[in-house]
Amino acid sequence: FHIDWDLVMAEKNGFDTFMLKEIHEQPRAYEDTMRGRIDEEKQQIVLPGVSLTPEQIREIKQIQMVACGTAYHAALVGKTVVERLTRIPVEVDLASEYRYRMPIIRENTLVIAVSQSGETADTLAAIREAKQWGARVMAITNVVGSSVAREAEDVLFTLAGPEIAVASTKAYSSQLIAFYLLGMFMGQSLGTLDPVTSVEMIAMLERLPFQVEEMLRHQDPIHGIAEHITQQEHLFFIGRGLDYSLAMEASLKLKEISYIHSEAYAAGELKHGSLALIEDGTPVIALATQELLLEKTVSNIKEVKARGAYVIALALEGNTELEKTADQVIYVPRTYSLLTPALAVVPLQLLAYYTAALRGNDVDKPRNLAKSVTVE
Ligand code: G6P
Repeated sequence: FHIDWDLVMAEKNGFDTFMLKEIHEQPRAYEDTMRGRIDEEKQQIVLPGVSLTPEQIREIKQIQMVACGTAYHAALVGKTVVERLTRIPVEVDLASEYRYRMPIIRENTLVIAVSQSGETADTLAAIREAKQWGARVMAITNVVGSSVAREAEDVLFTLAGPEIAVASTKAYSSQLIAFYLLGMFMGQSLGTLDPVTSVEMIAMLERLPFQVEEMLRHQDPIHGIAEHITQQEHLFFIGRGLDYSLAMEASLKLKEISYIHSEAYAAGELKHGSLALIEDGTPVIALATQELLLEKTVSNIKEVKARGAYVIALALEGNTELEKTADQVIYVPRTYSLLTPALAVVPLQLLAYYTAALRGNDVDKPRNLAKSVTVE
């Protein structure tokens, strides 16, 4: 009796690829990122790795976030979240650009480096630059003991577990969770987050893992859409506000593993140039999960529809009126508006995944890319 023990297969835990496994690990990753950081009794966020005192938080005049690739996209969501909850101005820079633009860094600047691996050379160089000018550096990273974690004064570990696939999924989404925790932590300390909203947000945050699990059980519509776009060579993502930040990540995910050319546009910016690229049948994936911006986004959907686009909309459950304008609608469960990207990202990851898989690509190891880039 002989058993062929394939270690890689065992590590994939029954999934075809690491990427698919990691997409499915997100409910657990969310729980792990939140574990021990919510004081249920006081309804407060506690961050043991962050030693900023309430006085020090009050002294922060600006926040600069630095990151590369997917982590940069997480920081774009982080900017909206942190600004909304703390009213402290936040800038986001690609780490490779930060150093060379002579950023204005002062002692009351908090620099937040976001990095899954904690080893990206550009991100490390940005931190060193910031420290040299006297900024306090905080890291959001997945790897305990990584260079970024060691060089930062405060660390918020995402604790999403090892990510093997080059295309980041659970690391990105757990970075979003880290930003929610950080924004709430600072907002509670500053008083910019009122206790009622805070209690509501905590409850919504704790529901996210269950909502993601539910979404992962209903993937059939995504397969159909992947089949439709797999033959395409160009594709656009549009969105406003948080949907625009998420569109950038969705676009990166699709292009890096499917090799379909894809771009993300702020929906309101289309008319200033990119609308010229829309032809009969061009797929446009319209993210419309931000209720306050819905009407505006719908009018942008109509603009592209009028030029012949094939529109796939991402909408909140219940917003069925989008079925009148879009060709296909993917529904996202409802949560607090700032938290929506943590749910909306899931179907977008699956769409990229199934499209790439249908094309027969090596999903876990896309051509020309590396999991961690340790050269500048
Ligand atoms: C590489 C990876 C990306 C990642 C980026 C930043 O380019 O392929 O998936 O987002 O590096 O990596 P980090 O480890 O700093 O988050």
